[in-house]
Parts: sequence; C-alpha cells; structure tokens
Amino acid sequence: MTTTAEPLIEVRDLRHDIAGRCVMAAPAFTALRGEHTLLLGPSGSGKTTLINVITGLITPSSGEVKIDGTVMSALPAAQRDQLRRRTIGVVFQTLRLIGALSVRQNLALAQTLALGRNDSALIDRLIAQVGLTHRADARPRELSQGEGQRAAIARALCAQPALVVADEPTSALDDANAVAMADLLLETAEATGATLLIATHDNRLRERFSRTFTLAAPGVSA
Ligand SMILES: Nc1ncnc2c1ncn2[C@@H]1O[C@H](COP(=O)(O)OP(=O)(O)OP(=O)(O)O)[C@@H](O)[C@H]1O
Ligand SMILES: [Mg+2]
Repeated sequence: MTTTAEPLIEVRDLRHDIAGRCVMAAPAFTALRGEHTLLLGPSGSGKTTLINVITGLITPSSGEVKIDGTVMSALPAAQRDQLRRRTIGVVFQTLRLIGALSVRQNLALAQTLALGRNDSALIDRLIAQVGLTHRADARPRELSQGEGQRAAIARALCAQPALVVADEPTSALDDANAVAMADLLLETAEATGATLLIATHDNRLRERFSRTFTLAAPGVSA
C-alpha cells in the first residue's frame, strides 16, 4: 500500500447516543491517504454507526470527524452531501441501490453526481470486473443479494473516490467472489491512491489487510 503522511480520516473523541444510550464510541482513529484498514468489532458495537458518521450521514452526539482536513459535522447539510459525493464511495450494508434504475444507470448517476460527467468506459470496466456484464441492464430487485453487493461495490468505485468506505461488502458472497471483491477493492485503491475502510466480520478478508481498528462495544471495557 502506498501511503502519504497526510491524514484522510481523523476521528477524535467520537461518541453517538440514541435515546440516551451510547451506541458507538471511538476515542481516536486516523487513516492516512492510501492506507487500508479493516473496521472490526462484534455485532452491535457501532461499526455501521461509525461509518454513517464518517460519511456524514449522521451527526455525532459529540466529537469530531475530519475528512481530508474538513470537519464533516461543521458543514451545512448540502456541503456535507457534496463532500461525500466528491470524496467518498460508500458500499452500504443495506446496499441502497436505486430501485428504478438499472445497474449501469445506478453507476452512471453516482458518477454524474460526483464528477459532473460520465466515463462509460470505466463503468463498463467495473461492471465487468464485478462479473455483472450480463446483468448490467437489470434492476436491483432482479439481482441476487450477492449480485446486488457486487453492483454496490462497482458503484462505490465508479468516481474513483479518494476514500472508499464499505460496510460488510462481502457478507453475501461465496468464497471466490469474496476474494475477488476484496482484491478489486484493494487493487483499485492501490491504482488510484484511495484510502479504504472496510467494516467486516469476514475472516476471508483478514489475511489481506495488515491494519485493523477494533471498536469495543460501548459500555464494555476493552
Ligand atoms: N436507529 C436506531 N435506533 C435505536 N438503536 C439503534 C439505531 N441504530 C443503531 N442502533 C443501535 O446501535 C448499536 C450499534 O449499531 P450498529 O448498526 O452501528 O452496529 P454494527 O457494529 O454495525 O453491527 P452489525 O455488525 O450487526 O452490523 C446497536 O446496539 C443498535 O441496536
Ligand atoms: Mg453494521
């Protein structure tokens, strides 16, 4: 992995409460530009919540997240959306593909929102790399869970973002596809200098990542 000393993600004293209960606590975490990290922790420890905070989808109860030097939570919602679209490719745990659009159209829309233009050669290449060329015109509801996950991975990569954040991106994949998708994420990140943060329980990914960050379940001392 090629890193620079420049931090792309900086988390400090982060905590999120829902209905008076702490659901995620991350005292400190930094990822440098080009660094690849697995986000670990038991179910319910707050991995998805942390990803939602890092990507600016929710505002933390306290603490701070800086993305590429900008404090995410200090931005008005519209600028936060813009920073996410331009800088971050997200693979959501629940995929969030747009149901009315085909796989190819989902990628094209994400690319247009991020870059203001389409690179259809890159879209076709990514669709081929995730093995969905024959399903490119299918709607998300017509895909298997694993095909949907592969489409979501391709969408996260289609604007060549500086940061790729993926929440359990291989949970529905067989061994061959899980390894292929991990390699695609790593190789793409390597080629573009992107930072990777991947939340997972998947032991198949462990051997491919040397760096891990483990969230302790809030209220459980480490
Ligand atoms: N909208 C919500 N309302 C109430 N509690 C919530 C809400 N969202 C998350 N939680 C709680 O916050 C805690 C952390 O949830 P989160 O989804 O971040 O965990 P996770 O580490 O991603 O788990 P998993 O590995 O199962 O995906 C859990 O106890 C969950 O029940
Ligand atoms: Mg989760």
